[in-house]
Amino acid sequence: MSDLFLTGIARLTTNTGDPIPDAAIKIENGSVVFAGPESDAPEQAGATHIACEGRAVIPGFVDAHTHLVFAGDRADEFAMKMAGASYTEVAASGGGILSTVAATRSASEDELFQAAAGRVRRMLASGTTTLEIKSGYGLDLESELRLLQVARRIGDDLPVTVKTTFLGAHAVPAEYRADRAGYVDQVIEEMLPAAAPLADYCDVFVEEGAFSADEARRIFAAAAGFGLEARVHAEQLTRSGGAALAAGIGAASADHLDHVTEEDADALAAAGVVAVLVPGASYTLRSTQAPGPMLLEHGVKVALATDCNPGTSYFESMGPVISLAVVQMGLTTEQAVYAATRGGALSLGLDDHGVLIPGSVGDLVILGAPSAAHLPYRPGTNLAWKTVKAGRVVAG
Ligand code: NIG
Ligand code: FE
Repeated sequence: MSDLFLTGIARLTTNTGDPIPDAAIKIENGSVVFAGPESDAPEQAGATHIACEGRAVIPGFVDAHTHLVFAGDRADEFAMKMAGASYTEVAASGGGILSTVAATRSASEDELFQAAAGRVRRMLASGTTTLEIKSGYGLDLESELRLLQVARRIGDDLPVTVKTTFLGAHAVPAEYRADRAGYVDQVIEEMLPAAAPLADYCDVFVEEGAFSADEARRIFAAAAGFGLEARVHAEQLTRSGGAALAAGIGAASADHLDHVTEEDADALAAAGVVAVLVPGASYTLRSTQAPGPMLLEHGVKVALATDCNPGTSYFESMGPVISLAVVQMGLTTEQAVYAATRGGALSLGLDDHGVLIPGSVGDLVILGAPSAAHLPYRPGTNLAWKTVKAGRVVAG
């Protein structure tokens, strides 16, 4: 079932050196057993064979930052923003995260699952094989748990690896508008203990109008008590201290980082925090892209993700994200493809993902193109010809 033999690969990106020309890959029981020049390949013996006929192969995309469990959409708000309203103005007028919270709270678990599963099937069809999924559109105990249950069910029912993140501190819900300290207490005392069994990580949106670095520090300390590592929405709209906090607590990731400084970069590099950059959000908000090249120069490990959400980044595919990272952020194609695969895996502690070497998981994309250079160059085309998850073709 999960044995697969690929030949005729024009260029094979393994993420452990230069791409290999004229390559082959063999996967047995879901794991890579050979990845190298076709002339050195072992016998085909029994495995399903795909002749790639001059196509390129890369590891499956690891999308390490998504908010993909939600109901409704915010197309009307998008129009307001295009007409000049800022994200913060839209949020202050009752739109923004809280409008998705209202729609999401009134959706059933099954409605949420069906909507999320549709997104994930499209993600699989565009080459994503591993996903991080955040809660954060429930903002009350029962609704946050529902979102995390849906996220877990995605991983159980669909051929994709899922890591889940509790983001109860995404916004202060309307019923706590006059008592934000009370909401932070609620997150720490009631929501976190109940959410922890369903979550791998805890996230906080550190931003003016959301949560302060001090509030986030308290939440992350409580999360650590439940064994949840931190992922931090940091320096997205303003420089709010999220990156320094992430470095100080040894977070798994600091995400967004549009306003990160060189000093922050040094701290992130020293602490081994992965920078998860989401160029789709900066594009949709017409804000400046995060300084990806600067972060790399300072030795920070960089990942790319869609940030899939209905407010700031309704991107489901990693191809266009790679294109934005190359065209607008200034990464090279090689840096962007590595960040979209291995970088994401490192941020999620998945050491055998995002790489194609003997022993790694057999997750890969056969591109409908002879090299990965076509990804940034042709953002409007889905270049995933076939998506392979643990040695099985799951799309294409
Ligand atoms: O990553 N920054 C906070 N959270 C999301 C936006 C959520 C929304 O607008 O619904 C983000 O951009
Ligand atoms: Fe986000």
